[in-house]
Amino acid sequence: MAVFLVDGAVHAVVGHCPHRGGPLGEGTVRGLVVTCPWHRWTFDVTTGRCLSHPDRDVASRTVSLDGDDVVVEIS
Ligand code: FES
Repeated sequence: MAVFLVDGAVHAVVGHCPHRGGPLGEGTVRGLVVTCPWHRWTFDVTTGRCLSHPDRDVASRTVSLDGDDVVVEIS
């Protein structure tokens, strides 16, 4: 999973880019958009929607904070 803290809210999406497996958790975040560090595909961190290639979304997960722990719901 790639977990992002944006303006006090935590978001999580599958951490492997659907292009060639780049590490989305190491991407650059601007606003609610993460850019894959390998070839710069972009994803909405709240939904996993791929903004640069609309048919290549990643799954998102519901996330919450429990004290110092990040809780990711896996269904
Ligand atoms: S591996 Fe992410 S854009 Fe290519």
